[in-house]
Parts: sequence; structure tokens; C-alpha cells
Amino acid sequence: MTQFRVKSTIQIFDRTKEFFEAFRIGEEGDLIITISFTYEKYLKDLVGKATVVDLLKYGTGEPNDGMVEAILRDLNGLHYQRVIAIGGGSVLDVAKIFALKNISPVQDLFERKLDIVKEKTLITVPTTCGTGSEVTNISILEILNKKTKIGLAVDELFADDAVLIPELLETLPFGAFTASSIDAFIHAVESYLSPKANAFTEMFSKNAMELILKGYQIIAAQGKEARIPIMKDFLTASTYAGIAFGNAGCAAVHALSYPLGSVYHVPHGESNYAILYGVFHKYMSICPEGKIKVLNEFLAKLLECKVEKVYQEMEELFNSLLPKKSLSSYGVTKPQLDEFTDSVIANQGRLMANNYVELSREDVFEIYSSLY
Ligand SMILES: [Fe+2]
Repeated sequence: MTQFRVKSTIQIFDRTKEFFEAFRIGEEGDLIITISFTYEKYLKDLVGKATVVDLLKYGTGEPNDGMVEAILRDLNGLHYQRVIAIGGGSVLDVAKIFALKNISPVQDLFERKLDIVKEKTLITVPTTCGTGSEVTNISILEILNKKTKIGLAVDELFADDAVLIPELLETLPFGAFTASSIDAFIHAVESYLSPKANAFTEMFSKNAMELILKGYQIIAAQGKEARIPIMKDFLTASTYAGIAFGNAGCAAVHALSYPLGSVYHVPHGESNYAILYGVFHKYMSICPEGKIKVLNEFLAKLLECKVEKVYQEMEELFNSLLPKKSLSSYGVTKPQLDEFTDSVIANQGRLMANNYVELSREDVFEIYSSLY
């Protein structure tokens, strides 16, 4: 039985220029998908004859199927052999789709009604330290007709090469840094508790948790700028967590955060953080003596606190970087808690299958209510 796999080579370059030279990027047939800020700051002198797509031209929120369709229309049948995705989660999620032969209608693709055939070489270069998307086989888009996010997880979406360049994260604003690294932390804890976890995935999950918590402790003690010299650690942790959840899966925190992200356009890492403790308190109330006990002991050691205080300590540390908000403060209304619950039960089976313990509709509703 397959226990573990990493399909992409992982490469690290200090500078973007070194990456472009090593991969000989800049020929016709190269399709670079990025955002204008990254292009202006790091890429414009390097792209040569490559075709460049600025994702922000197609929308500023979380990516959706309409954006992919619009890019496809603008490419107008362009022939390309390599897709080079340089960006955050949105860029990578969209760009992965462009490595496939059959893309449109995107909703049909995500509902598995199209043949899934990989046709292009895919190179992923993250500019945040959260999604882990550079090493996963998942693309997540909001499907506008369905008003929720849906994940397409197929091997054809694995990158051929995942390239880590710490230079690209030096300009990441503090808010985006914390939201993305909290997302990576949540990938690590959710994959650790997943029933699909094994000794290999746990090693990556635990290493990611350790790097992120230690980094947060340094930032809490020394201030925001202390993140810059340790950015490589966060980038590494994010890829570790991506490898872990790429094999063992994410679960209820992600599942419950999707309606919040879709309806109120809350950034992915922040919406996950809004849900995190609700799910973990529910897990503790259902099965406190299982693997979650081992996880809490591990976290307590890293946080140097008593195990009973572990969530409180973690919340204090995280809140010093990104204050947690209630669902109502995002504008969520009481009747929407029912709608969100229905949406999770209807659409997020892929993730809910990885929960530490089974969560019923009533459990999901109670989690939302506790966070209201
Ligand atoms: Fe995530």
C-alpha cells in the first residue's frame, strides 16, 4: 500500500535570476502566470519571449472558475509547453489547471466530467509561505454557480518542479505572512490527525509545526522584522506541511472555512484561523484520549506550557500576530450558520473524510455556533 510520495523535484535558489537561468525560462512556449506586483519587482527584466498572465487583471479575490475561463479566452489558442506559476495560492491553483489538456468548461472539469490529461510541464514557485500548493496535486477554485470552493485533486496537477526562492517572500506584507503561515500550521495539524497519516507524513507535519511555532516565538519576542532572516524556515515549513497534507489530507478546519471564505471573501489562512479552535475543542469533547492527546503533548513541549493550557497558549501566541475574529464580526448572520453547515455537508466530503473523529451535521452546526 502506498504510504507516501513526493512527485515534484524540490529546488532552492536564493535569487529569482538564478532560477530563470537554471531553467532557461524566457523562450516562446513559456507561459508565466503571476501577479503584477511580482512581475514588476522581480520578473520584468527576466521574462524574455515568455507570455505573461497577470492574474489580478481577472479579479482580486480568491480564484474562481470564471477567472480561468477569461484567461483561456484571452490566450486565444496560444501554444505553450511550460507553465511557470510564480505567486501565492491563488496563482498556483489557477496555473496548475493550465498544465491540463482539457480545461473548459472549468465547472465540468471540477465535477470530473472532462478527461483529465496532463499536457504541459508545470513549474511552481510560491511567493507566500502557506499553501504548500507547490507540492500538492490539488487545485481549489470557487465554482461560481455553486457558491462554494471545490477542490480538484488528481495526480495530473503535481508540478514537475517546485522551486523555493526566499527572495520572493522578502516583500510579503506582515498580514499576508501571518495568514499564510497559520494556514501552513493548520495543514500540519490537520494532516497529523488525519486517519490517513502515517510515520512518514507525521515527520513532515511535526517538523512544520516546530519550525512555525519557533519562528512565531522569535517574532513575538523580537518584532515583525525578525521574520525576514528566518523566512527560509517558514518557506521550508510550508512545503513540509504541503507534503504532509498532500499525502494525508486536510480536514474539518478547511472544510468549515470554505463557506466563510467564499461568501465573505476572507483570505484563506485567516478564515481557517477563525475556525481552528472551534474544531479542536469539538474534537477534544468527543475523543480527548486519542491521537490528539499526543499532538497536544508535542505542542505543549514546543510552547513550554502545561498540556491543559496548550490551546490557550497557542491562541495567545497566534493572536499577537493575527487577532482572531468571531464569525459575526465578518458579517455572518445566524441563519447563515445553517446554510454554511448544509454547504459543508453537501460539498466538503473529500475533506470531512479526513477528520480526526466523525463529525455529524449537528457537530458542524455547534462548531459554527461556538465561533459566532
Ligand atoms: Fe490551506
